Order: sequence, then C-alpha cells, then structure tokens
Amino acid sequence: MTKFSATTPIYYVNAKPHLGHAYTTIVADAVSRWHRLLGDDVHLLTGTDEHGLKIQQAADAQGVSPQAFADSIAPLFQQAWQRLNITHDDFIRTTEKRHAVGVQKLLQACYDAGDIESDVYKGQYCVACEAYFTDDELVEGKCPIHRTPTTFVEEENYFFRLSRFEDRLLQWYADHPQAITPGFRMNEVIGFIKTGLHDFSISRKTLTWGIPLPWDSSHVAYVWFDALANYITALGYGTDDAAFAKRWPVDYHFIGKDIIRFHCVYWPAMLMSAGIEPPKGWAVGGWLLTDGEKMSKTAGNVVDPLDLIDVFGVDGFRYYVLADTTYGNDGDFTLEGITKRFNSDLANNLGNLAARIATVVEKKCGGLGPKPSANSPLAEIAATAVRETSAAWMAVQPSKALEATWQLIGATNSHLENHEPWKMEPGEAVETVMGDALEALRIVTILANPALPTTTQEIWKRIGLAGDISDLRIDSDTTWGQYPGGCAVVKGEPLFPRKTL
Ligand code: MSP
Repeated sequence: MTKFSATTPIYYVNAKPHLGHAYTTIVADAVSRWHRLLGDDVHLLTGTDEHGLKIQQAADAQGVSPQAFADSIAPLFQQAWQRLNITHDDFIRTTEKRHAVGVQKLLQACYDAGDIESDVYKGQYCVACEAYFTDDELVEGKCPIHRTPTTFVEEENYFFRLSRFEDRLLQWYADHPQAITPGFRMNEVIGFIKTGLHDFSISRKTLTWGIPLPWDSSHVAYVWFDALANYITALGYGTDDAAFAKRWPVDYHFIGKDIIRFHCVYWPAMLMSAGIEPPKGWAVGGWLLTDGEKMSKTAGNVVDPLDLIDVFGVDGFRYYVLADTTYGNDGDFTLEGITKRFNSDLANNLGNLAARIATVVEKKCGGLGPKPSANSPLAEIAATAVRETSAAWMAVQPSKALEATWQLIGATNSHLENHEPWKMEPGEAVETVMGDALEALRIVTILANPALPTTTQEIWKRIGLAGDISDLRIDSDTTWGQYPGGCAVVKGEPLFPRKTL
C-alpha cells in the first residue's frame, strides 16, 4: 500500500490558534484526505511547540509556570482542529517525554558526528521568531518579520556547524529537484545556501525552559532544534525504531514561507549530520494577510477561525481558505472575500445544484433519483474533472483542484438550464436529464469531500446513497455511471444559506 505521511508546523502555544495556523493545517488535512481517497496509508502529524523564551515570557506575564501555561493553551489547538474537522493521526506536544528522549538522541548523534561545538554567540535575537539575526538582516534595526526591536545576546552556546553542509545540501537538492513546492521556493533556498551558510546556536544557557543537552545539562536545546525534531520524535525516533522506519522520510512538511530556512536548510543538515535521510518534500504556503500584513499575535491583527466557523460553517471556512488563495502565494483575508466566495461557489453553485436536483426529482420523478445514461455529455466532463482535480491535489494545488471540481458543477448546472427539466412532463426525457445530473453530483461529492467533508456527506445522503464518502476510492468510485437509480432523494434545509455582509 502506498504510504503518505505529512506534517504541519507545530504551533507556538503563546496564544490561541488564529486563521494563519488554521490555514496551514487545513491545507495539510485536505491533501491528506485526498490521499486517503486514493487508498493510501496516510499519517498526518500536528502539534504544539512549547519550549523557548517566547513561551517562558508569556507564562511569566501571566504569573504561571511555563508548563501550566502550555497546558492551558495546547488544548485550544486540539479543540480548534477538532472543530475544523482535521484528521490528524497524532498530536505531539514538545513537553512530552517521547519528544525529549528523541531530541536528546538527535543532539547526541550530531554531537558525536563532530558537528556541534562550543562557541560564543554575539548578536541580535527576536523572541517572537525565536531566531537569531545578523545586523544586515535587520530592517531599520528591527526584526524583518515582526518589525519589533530585537535583543542583543552574548553568551556561550553550542553551535551546529551548518557551514560544513553547503555542498551536501546543494548536492541533495540537485538530486531532488522537485522536493520543494512551489518550485520558485526551491530557487530561493538554493540561492540562500549559495550565499554561504553560518553556523547556528543550538543551545541557550540563560534559559531553563527547554530540553537539557545530554552532554551538558547547564544548557537547554535552542527551541528550533527542539521543535524541528518533533517530525521524527513523533514517529518514534528514539522510542520506537520500527515505527520510525515505517514512516520516515515523510512526503511533505507543510509550512509557511516564514519558516523555510529552518525547514529547508537547517533541518536537512541536522538530519544529515545524524545519519538520517531528509524528508521527501516540503510544501510551502504563503501568508494570509489582513490589510497587507501577516496575521500574528505580535502584529495584533489576528482573526479567530472559530468566529468565522460560527458564521460560515466549518466547510464554508475550509472551502474559502483552500479555494481563495493559490497555495504558495500570499492571500488577502477579508470578510467581503469570504462572503463573496461563499455565496458564489457554495450557495449559488454547489448548494443550488443539489437543491434544484432534489426539487425536480421530487416533482417529476416521484422523489426517486433515476439512473444515469451511459452516453451522457456530462460523462466526458466528469472524467476531465476527476483527472484534473486529482493532478492538482497531487501537486498540492488546492485552489486549482477545487476549480477543476467546480467545472463539473458549472457544467451540470448548465446542463439543467439547457434542458429545463422543470418544464418537462414526467417521463423518460426528464429521467435521463436528472439521472445524469445526479451522477455528476455524486462524483462532485467525492471530489469535493477533502475540502467539504461534512456537507458532501450530507449531499451524498440526500441523494439516497449509503455509507461514508471517506471509504470510497477515487480510481474505482468516480467513473461514470454508478449512481444506482431508484434512490430516495430529499431536499432538506439549504446547505449554504446565503450571507449578507
Ligand atoms: N513553532 C514554529 C514552527 C515550528 S515547526 C517545527 C512557528 N509557530 S507559529 O505558530 O508561529 O507559526 C506556525 C506556522 O503558521 C508557520 O508556518 C507560519 O507560516 C504559519 N502562519 C502563521 N501566521 C500565518 C499567516 N498569517 N498566514 C499563513 N500562515 C501563517 O513558527
């Protein structure tokens, strides 16, 4: 069985989940759901990043211990993912024992390989990024990501000798030219490596909130070294070798563009040092911006995904983030945008198609959905939609995949408008039109299921079909002609009631 393993970033627990976190997680979930429909053996990992100065400071501000603080926020992520219908197979918290064991094993492996050495660090640190910056990386003396003042740090640290990995990384990327999607991000990574890599600090002596280095417990691991390791510790590195060997290397790390250097430069080098293969791929998303700025706690412009769910429903929200932004590019979040998409694609297209089919079947076919015809003009359109939807999901292009699926919805609505079955007398002609429309809708519900898991299942039921869509298979269940006919079709409440701003 083909394996498909994917990860999301692990989110800092300094604040509750926001739209930006939900975005990355929904994309990873939808792609994973697609792979389940292909019959793959899927594993999706997510979790929370709980160590480091940022969390320590957030806890201090509340007058609680960092552990108690993390314990209060991590469940908010778990609850949010449950509400958003995220089908992760594991949720790792970096404060778990299994993680500490694996991180120490990885540190020791890099140390034993001679790639970690003691040195003195002098330079700027951004707590919000938990990242070190050189003076020329700062913008007007401030963090280039958060535009907030950085702190000057001078301390004895252990360093990872990243500078030794330039050639190995360039060679690896030359051998794996498709590893980073979208492709322009690969050029960015290669360009960055070619400018010369600097060693980076992997420990902090002035901080206690972290995992102690196995050979020097007066230091804790730098939070990014600790965090990146989650991708292997969750799979069993250091605790369950067989499970780890089964799942690693993963197919994709889904990440945002702001953490590309950590993931595409530091991380493969750390793995190479420890004698572990790099991941097979990275899928790098852009940012969802509000008023042209990245949403973040630091910028104070966060949108709570749970508030949007209350208005647009889980599927309405999922659909918007998947369909509205080309994965890889930045997207602009606006209430007008989500309302418009909801009304046009969901209410007017999918919702309207399901509703009008049910109405006509009720009035003209005695409420029983007829069988499709073998030579329907929609058959070819459906086959194209299946092919194009599939290719786009495989290439991590959710908006393109949904566009391809919506082509079939559009064609089916046009088919109905051209034939006007609502004006026909009951009989063979109307049965043919409605059987074909039902079959197209049946295929649409399978194709759209990764994006709209609840509403597609509801349509499936309303057109009289039994079982779970998630148990179906793209290759066998989306070929034309399988709507059995004779099924009771019901209209039900509107699935996507139109919204006004
Ligand atoms: N803890 C680190 C990741 C460690 S992974 C080993 C971290 N956490 S984060 O909570 O700040 O952000 C996690 C991810 O969310 C990043 O990939 C980031 O790009 C993504 N997003 C945060 N805000 C975002 C937007 N406004 N838009 C899209 N994605 C955004 O970084």
